[in-house]
Amino acid sequence: MPCPHSRSTDDEDHGIERREFMKTALAIGGTSAMFAAKARGEPVLQGSTEGLPARQYAWNDFMPKNGLTGLAKTPAHHLQLLVDYTGDGTPTEADREQVEAALQTLEDAYEWDNEGLMFTIGYSLSYFDRFDEDLPESAGMRPPEDIIDETDIASSGKIEADHADAHLHLASKHAHVLLEAEEALFGAVDEVNGVDVETDLSGVFEKTDRRTGFIGNPKERWDEDLQGKNPIEEGASVFFGFKSLFTDSQPSEDDVAIQEGPFADGTTEQVSLLLDNNLKQWYGKHDIEERIERMYSPSHTLDETGEFGRKLAERDGTSAPSDEKSMGDAAAETAEDAEDKGVVGHAQKLARARVDDPDWEDGRPLILRRDFPSTDGGRAHTQFISNQRRIDDFISVRKAMAFVDWDADDPDPAESEVQLKDHGIQGHFKVQSRATFLVPPRDLRALPPASP
Ligand code: HEM
Repeated sequence: MPCPHSRSTDDEDHGIERREFMKTALAIGGTSAMFAAKARGEPVLQGSTEGLPARQYAWNDFMPKNGLTGLAKTPAHHLQLLVDYTGDGTPTEADREQVEAALQTLEDAYEWDNEGLMFTIGYSLSYFDRFDEDLPESAGMRPPEDIIDETDIASSGKIEADHADAHLHLASKHAHVLLEAEEALFGAVDEVNGVDVETDLSGVFEKTDRRTGFIGNPKERWDEDLQGKNPIEEGASVFFGFKSLFTDSQPSEDDVAIQEGPFADGTTEQVSLLLDNNLKQWYGKHDIEERIERMYSPSHTLDETGEFGRKLAERDGTSAPSDEKSMGDAAAETAEDAEDKGVVGHAQKLARARVDDPDWEDGRPLILRRDFPSTDGGRAHTQFISNQRRIDDFISVRKAMAFVDWDADDPDPAESEVQLKDHGIQGHFKVQSRATFLVPPRDLRALPPASP
């Protein structure tokens, strides 16, 4: 709720209450929440199945752009549904037709963009296991256990490998659209945004988990959704404070598309749940300069980045914190910084995983991040979704995050000169679960065979 001492206008109060209501309705889900949100929701244009991109994840052209960087801005509301195939054996043609018809209903009901609805469906190796044929190498898939084994050994605690058969990621500016779409897929509604629901996913898929997220002011979110003293600083744009996604740190959608084989124009997807469990220590133990060192690099200064990293966005992304030094230079100094300063930055470490590419002056990043914050279950966390050409690319990026000697054959956390609390943001969150999916091209999205 708005602070009683604040000088907000009635309109602003109304706006905040409405936003809070919508976000809460999405987190709760179900038919009643859907009807309540629909009654307060704005009208949304219908769409069409015609002319949609072959790549399900081709969202950038349909999102608004950041005025400074020109980068696509991710929709405000997100819903993830983890589902299992209910049939015995391999899917039938009738199952496929049912899934395709249910998904096309959503495309008819909402325009494909930030104002309407965008979604992807991806399939796990547990799903593909039911076929006699193997997935082709070109699909780039690996099980979540491989990521856990190769990259998470530095962090303590148990990490779950999720084995849901499929994963739907739905995104929209409007929470009520996501609730209505979910009810059209799994509920008992006859109509969605003026389009008849003739078929849905019931009987083919059952929901095993639902996760939601909302991009908004993280300080307000803490007050609204979480318990305990609010550690987040006024002006922060994510729970960890610093603005993410600068111009040259995200690959294009082309860069992460599968290039060949039957799943060409698809992509792989890594879906994890990161508990931001140590934010109090992040803010309480490190002053702003120390946070900048840990988020960017020890050679970045407050003057260059600005308090929440916003000045970097004005300066062509992560390229040049100063005229002399780029993020590429900072990346090359990671081991030296570890030894001399005992601290390394998150972005600096991760930029080591870029690869040479003539089109990218400072190297091409490998993973397209589509993460968002969440307070599901009353806990601050990051729902981390990324697309990459192959899961190996994610593993290489994640290794760069976990280890100072990341490109060694057998990187060793014990070798590190850096304590976990000074290792970027590593010591301040915990990975709870991981899953991997293959997001096929649109024409294979309905229960694809392993070898189409
Ligand atoms: C827990 C939440 C996280 C926060 C708050 C966070 C924040 C940031 C920030 C502020 C940057 C620098 C600005 C930018 O380039 O976008 C960055 C860069 C990056 N982060 Fe994270 N990050 C988080 C988790 C992760 C995870 C789990 C990964 C995946 C392994 C990751 C991968 C990257 C990559 C690849 C870059 C760009 C590196 C480059 O410039 O090439 N981040 N992150």
